[in-house]
Amino acid sequence: MDKIQLMAEIKKISKQKNAVIMAHYYQENDIQDVADFIGDSLALAQKAATTTADIIVICGVHFMGETAKIICPDKKVLVPDMNAGCSLADSCKANDLKQFIDKHPDHTVISYVNTSAEVKALTDIVVTSTNAKNIVDMLPKDMKIIFGPDRNLGNYINSVTGRNMLLWDGACHVHEQFSVDKLIELKKQYPNAKTLAHPECKKHIIQQAEVVGSTQALLNYATNSEDDTFIVATESGILHEMKKQNPNKTFIPLPTDYNNKCNECNYMRMNTLEKLYQCLLNETNEIIVDENISKLAIKSINKMLEMSK
Ligand code: 13P
Ligand code: SF4
Repeated sequence: MDKIQLMAEIKKISKQKNAVIMAHYYQENDIQDVADFIGDSLALAQKAATTTADIIVICGVHFMGETAKIICPDKKVLVPDMNAGCSLADSCKANDLKQFIDKHPDHTVISYVNTSAEVKALTDIVVTSTNAKNIVDMLPKDMKIIFGPDRNLGNYINSVTGRNMLLWDGACHVHEQFSVDKLIELKKQYPNAKTLAHPECKKHIIQQAEVVGSTQALLNYATNSEDDTFIVATESGILHEMKKQNPNKTFIPLPTDYNNKCNECNYMRMNTLEKLYQCLLNETNEIIVDENISKLAIKSINKMLEMSK
C-alpha cells in the first residue's frame, strides 16, 4: 500500500473499532497527520483521561502508553512499536530510586512523566514539562523535594522557583546533544531570531534562549508571537506543527555538535505508518501494567491532573 492508502486504511479501521490515535509532537509527519489528536506529554495524558474510545493507540514512546493504560485500565492501549523506549526513563530504575528515597524519607517525590510505571508508583506527584513549574510553586515553600529523573529540567525548575530540590542525575540523550557553538553562530546569522528551548536541554542552551518551555509552550509562543524567525532547540518533529500553524514564519532546527542535521529521537522515530496500521489492524503491542503498580501509580498521576486543572 502506498502512503495515501495506508492513511485511509488507518482512518477506516480506527473508526470501525472506535479507536483514537494520539500522537506526540515528536512523531514523524505522516503519523501526526493521520492522528486524531496531537499534543505534548500532558495533553496526551489529559486526553486519555477523557476519551470515550475503546482502543487508544499511543504514537509516542513506551512510558506514554503506560501512562494512558494506568489512567484507563479498562481500555485497550496499543503502541506501534514496543521497543520505542526513552533514555531519560531508562536513567532512573525503580530499585535505585527506592534506595535514594529511603535515604531521604522526609522528602516528597516529584517525578517527570518520562518514567516507568514502577517509578511512578514510588512517586507522590508526577509532572510534565508543561506543568512542573506551576506544580512546584503550589507546594509549601519549606517542603523537601526529590525531583527526577531529568537533571536539566530539575535545575531549570530550581532556578525559576528559587527551590533547592534534590535532583536525580538523569538526562535525555536528544536534548543534551544540542550544540551551543552552533546556536551562537545561528544567532549571529539570524540576529532577529528568537531561540525556543525545551527545559530538557543543558544549561548553556537554556541561558541562550529567549523562551524555555514544553513542546506545547514553544509551539504556542511561536504562533502567538509577532516575531517571524525561530531557532528551535527540541526534537525536530515539533517543526511540522509549527510550520503548519505558521506557514509564513521561519523555523530553524538547532543541530548537534556531531552533525549538521536536525535532531531526532531515535526512539520516537521507531514508529512508522506501517507499524501503526499493523498494530491497529491486529490489535498487537498491547500495553499491560501490573495491577498493584497501576493502583499506586494512578495516585501520583491523578495528583498531577488535579493540580493542572
Ligand atoms: P513534553 O511533551 O512535555 O514537551 O516533553 C518532551 C519529551 O521529551 C517527551 O518525550
Ligand atoms: Fe525520551 Fe528524550 Fe526521546 Fe523524549 S526525546 S522520548 S525524553 S529520549
